[in-house]
Amino acid sequence: MEFPFDIHKVLVEKITMLGPNLRPARRPFSARVDFQHQITMIVDEIGKASAKAQHLTAPITSASRLQGSDHRLYILKDCSAKNAGKGTVIGFLKVGYKKLFVLDHHGAHNEVEPLCVLDFYVHEALQRHGHGKELFQYMLQQEHLHPSQLAVDRPSEKLLSFLRKHYSLRSTIPQVNNFVVFEGFFQGRNASA
Ligand code: ACO
Repeated sequence: MEFPFDIHKVLVEKITMLGPNLRPARRPFSARVDFQHQITMIVDEIGKASAKAQHLTAPITSASRLQGSDHRLYILKDCSAKNAGKGTVIGFLKVGYKKLFVLDHHGAHNEVEPLCVLDFYVHEALQRHGHGKELFQYMLQQEHLHPSQLAVDRPSEKLLSFLRKHYSLRSTIPQVNNFVVFEGFFQGRNASA
């Protein structure tokens, strides 16, 4: 995803984490006045691209939505030499804690607040090159979590395949909401049954 400004001057690190204040931990040395406007533009555009890829009627990721939440957005940019010009954004992963009622193996409801995978997108031309794995691994490290501890909001077939391939997450515990949790979700948690 290209932008009419130099991505490297806005996103300093290969993977940038953005929270509700839309301020990266490492800001460019000479942060310009239009810096915040450019960050907003990046978040809005990648959110739109993700919604299009998932055939959603409206983006679930935007700068204004991020500001009103406690979600975290991990954005991966292209650091390859062949893309040395203005740079491009490869994709992003959005996560956040949510209070959920999750059924365990006995069918009992458990009130939990897991970290949830809320939105995940890699540019169409760059899928299946390992970029999704790089983003996901980085997020797991930052959040200090094992993949089975996550809940996933309406995963697409591609995401289910991704989780199977990279994290051997196969068996799900059936739920009555849109979230998917996998075997191991309740390990180390206090299930009510
Ligand atoms: N068809 C089926 N599986 C796919 C596809 C595809 N077109 N693309 C990726 N995958 C899965 C496969 O398991 C693949 O392994 P394989 O090539 O051996 O079959 C694996 O992901 C590849 O891993 P990465 O290269 O690390 O992943 P990638 O960079 O492609 O990112 C992602 C994965 C984010 C799911 C990407 O495919 C994508 O953006 N898809 C479209 C949007 C989408 O479905 N996002 C998830 C929505 S649900 C949610 O966010 C909660």
